Amino acid sequence: MAAGQRPPADLSKFISVDDFQDYARAHMDKARYEYVASGTEDEQTLQENRAAFKRFFLVPRFMRDVSKIDTAVDVLGHRASLPVLVSPAGVHNICHPQGEVGCARACARAGTIMAVSQHANSTLEEVAAAAGGAPQWFQLYILKDRALTRDIVRRAVAAGYKALVLTIDSARFGYREADARNGFVGLPEGLSLPNYPTREGYDDRDREAWDQNTERIFDTTCDWSEIAWLRSITTLPIVIKGVMAPEDATLAVQAGASCIIVSNHGGRALDGCLASIDALGPVVAAVREQCFRSDMVPVPVMMDGGVRRGTDVLKALALGATAVLLGRPVFFALATAGEDGVFKMLQLLRRELETAMVLTGCRSLAEIGPELVVHRAPYAFQRSSL
Ligand SMILES: Cc1cc2nc3c(=O)[nH]c(=O)nc-3n(C[C@H](O)[C@H](O)[C@H](O)COP(=O)(O)O)c2cc1C
Repeated sequence: MAAGQRPPADLSKFISVDDFQDYARAHMDKARYEYVASGTEDEQTLQENRAAFKRFFLVPRFMRDVSKIDTAVDVLGHRASLPVLVSPAGVHNICHPQGEVGCARACARAGTIMAVSQHANSTLEEVAAAAGGAPQWFQLYILKDRALTRDIVRRAVAAGYKALVLTIDSARFGYREADARNGFVGLPEGLSLPNYPTREGYDDRDREAWDQNTERIFDTTCDWSEIAWLRSITTLPIVIKGVMAPEDATLAVQAGASCIIVSNHGGRALDGCLASIDALGPVVAAVREQCFRSDMVPVPVMMDGGVRRGTDVLKALALGATAVLLGRPVFFALATAGEDGVFKMLQLLRRELETAMVLTGCRSLAEIGPELVVHRAPYAFQRSSL
């Protein structure tokens, strides 16, 4: 049965974020499900993104007045009702006909910020309109065709997006073997990438897996000087997504980034890459150091990859993140019930985060500090000194 033609799921039966994945696995077409769920090669990073959270343990504090809990956060001058944003991720319509438009409505209802992918199945203007004025960010890949890249930025500004998210980790997409095995070579019939006005110069079906078709339009010559180019064509804050090394975090701040997202593309780029939650602490330290040296207010650092529980959110915030973002849970919630599924999934996480805050004695996000977490193997990820 095609997505969206199923009888509506009974959302009262969905108790945790993983329930949406179980539902999607059971009800979606296998190739579509695996396109979303899979990671590259051995899926080591995909699995590690989640496993790494479980190596951090919480050290709770008690006997504090926790009768009122505030989960609100300010990000780049806009308020979100919870520190859980939506990662930019293309082709939401693979899971539900409402696609990005449904997701935008759910985020507006939940009071959180959606980062809209350049590879959305609706135009960036349609997704902006669906948010009804709620703040959104737009995610960009720099294309070989600079005139087209510039035009996409111009449209994002005109549509009212509040920040540009530049994804830097995908000069080449990692190879997801599931797509090749499933013959998932092109977008399913009826879906397109309408932010590209034409498909001139690339055929989205002539390789053995879908991402390998789109990556050929990306500019792989980019280096940090591109941030200056972007800043020359827009005054929007620039968020750099895909930073894993502290050295790159320093360079991103020097280049003028307004925010950094620690991310390994949800295990869809380099397999064998460190888990995002393990990369977070060193990146936060590097950003603080660079901002201190430059006499700047520290730029916010966020992370995505494997966040599925309120306690995951709390751990990330304790390790220095301002907020986290969600990728796959949004797809699975869309597959379950479109806009309502995404809204319900966000509400579940909100409740879990509130519970985690009560049980650790934190009334506001500002009270979530590094003393709340211990790591099972604190030196396991030390770099070689050779
Ligand atoms: C189906 C799919 C499509 C994605 N498309 C994009 C994209 O267009 N741009 C981007 O920056 N990241 C993209 N991502 C990566 C997400 O933004 C995010 O980094 C990742 O999904 C976070 O990990 P999680 O899925 O474990 O939450 C995509 C992820 C998935 C699962």
